[in-house]
Amino acid sequence: TYVVTEACIKCKYMDCVEVCPVDCFYEGENMLVINPSECIDCGVCEPECPAEAILPDTEDGLDQWLELNATYSAQWPNITAKGDAPDDADAHKGEAGKFEKYFS
Ligand code: SF4
Ligand code: F3S
Repeated sequence: TYVVTEACIKCKYMDCVEVCPVDCFYEGENMLVINPSECIDCGVCEPECPAEAILPDTEDGLDQWLELNATYSAQWPNITAKGDAPDDADAHKGEAGKFEKYFS
């Protein structure tokens, strides 16, 4: 599966939503997550994210994010159409420590 990571927080560009063939993104207030049991590993979303927030779970160090994607995709609503990114999305691109500061 692919997972959405910290870089999405407060950026939420949503370009990923447009391209997913199985509509497996779920929307929280500050970020999106992927449902790992629905993702078909096609990889098309990865290069679409301007924040480079989407990674394959085969990369090291993503356990926390895989767990977070699984947990919240079961709680948050499905999103199938791209909305507007936050006005200050670019200001939060690449910012460190976003999980501690903003995740809710
Ligand atoms: Fe959707 Fe493919 Fe991305 Fe999985 S890898 S979330 S199926 S676009
Ligand atoms: Fe987040 Fe990137 Fe999608 S910032 S909403 S994972 S395009």
